[in-house]
Amino acid sequence: MARARVIYECQNCGFQSPKWLGRCPDCGQWNSLVEEAVTVEPGARGGEAGPAHAPSAIDAVTADTDRRLRSGMEEFDRVLGGGLVDGSAVLIGGDPGIGKSTLLLQAVAALSQDGPPCLYVSGEESEQQVKMRARRIALGASNLLVLSETSLERILEQVKAVKPTVLVVDSIQTVHTSAIPSAPGSIGQVRECSSTLISLAKKSGIGTFLVGHVTKDGAIAGPRVLEHMVDTVLYFEGERGHSFRILRAVKNRFGSTNEIGVFEMQEAGLREVSNPSQIFLSERPLGGSGSVVVPSMEGTRPILVEIQALVTRSFLTLPRRTCIGVDTNRVALILAILEKRKGMNFYDKDVFINVAGGVSVSEPAVDLGIAVGVASSALDRPLDPHTVFVGELGLAGEIRTVTRAEARVAEAGKLGFRRCTLPQGNRRQLPHVQQPELVGVASLEECWEILF
Ligand code: TYD
Ligand code: MG
Repeated sequence: MARARVIYECQNCGFQSPKWLGRCPDCGQWNSLVEEAVTVEPGARGGEAGPAHAPSAIDAVTADTDRRLRSGMEEFDRVLGGGLVDGSAVLIGGDPGIGKSTLLLQAVAALSQDGPPCLYVSGEESEQQVKMRARRIALGASNLLVLSETSLERILEQVKAVKPTVLVVDSIQTVHTSAIPSAPGSIGQVRECSSTLISLAKKSGIGTFLVGHVTKDGAIAGPRVLEHMVDTVLYFEGERGHSFRILRAVKNRFGSTNEIGVFEMQEAGLREVSNPSQIFLSERPLGGSGSVVVPSMEGTRPILVEIQALVTRSFLTLPRRTCIGVDTNRVALILAILEKRKGMNFYDKDVFINVAGGVSVSEPAVDLGIAVGVASSALDRPLDPHTVFVGELGLAGEIRTVTRAEARVAEAGKLGFRRCTLPQGNRRQLPHVQQPELVGVASLEECWEILF
């Protein structure tokens, strides 16, 4: 006999408790525990039923992960690691209105164009609304089926009937199953529905995209386990007021997690931006102090970004250090190095750092760029607008080599930069490069001699 048991589950983090609590002991959220009934089938614990399966020698296992479905949207495919792997589950999160539905509709339309059948299930919009969106972005998709449905059982029924190669569920929070009595969108429902859809993907080889809402603090709403269950987690991000959107992989079992795809939201849908450096640099003030261009690696691709520094007199006891797009701790470290090695004073200065275009860069190779930007603003001496700077800064003021120097230099050359200041160690690796001119520096000292 199945017996019903009641547990209380935190809607914020998925913590479970046998009794109700006013505050979740795990995440500290108030009033977030909600009653959920769980039905325990005797003997249902311990995984799936079926004949036991003997382990196989790893050499004997055939793995066809190279079989990837390409949508033809370069930016999208690259973030997935070169296309969608058969039977993989991809979770896409992002703020409301950022363009998740638009992106997936465009992607599956491109996939299904003269290709395999794709099914787009929307729990938020009617079929007519999806059609209106498709018309707006002028999609011609011969093999794309749309379904407006929120019941998991009926979705599964349709999937069995249609046998799509790719399935999109927009969004997982709207889907509910009658197996659990709790309300749609609750943690129990989200977990149950997604695990059913994910195991369906694994068993039948259907590539599955799940759209997930995000909470106020930016995490995908629902249990954290959701991110562990899927193969790939993507975030679609963008600044309000900017039309640029960045698709970022934060987990990928079949590819790099450093890849980003850049899109621009236009009147007629998302347009791929294949040369983001040009866009990010398009409004750069030439000859302004504190502005510096840095070739930063985003995954396998170098992107030139403009870092702006502003150093002003402070009237606060604790001067301000405001950083947008770079790590505040890293900037504190660079300021300390500049104080110690170059005798600059920042105790009475506010320092603001901003990466233009709403991008964020996290690798240490941007250190040198930040340092010369700060110095340029503090001394009010503009930098040569045709030079890019790259290098990691050590505490002794030494400039350390960076990875993928050749790709960075090539990107700078492609965009017409004449000079690249880089670590001496990297300069030695690239004796053959003619354009742009390479200037190797081993320490801040050497760099300052050239610049200021
Ligand atoms: P949408 O894909 O519905 O976002 P999400 O699914 O993440 O909530 O995107 C909605 C926004 O995109 C909306 O503000 C209008 C804008 N948009 C365009 O600018 N151009 C277009 O062609 C489309 C379809 C939407
Ligand atoms: Mg949507």
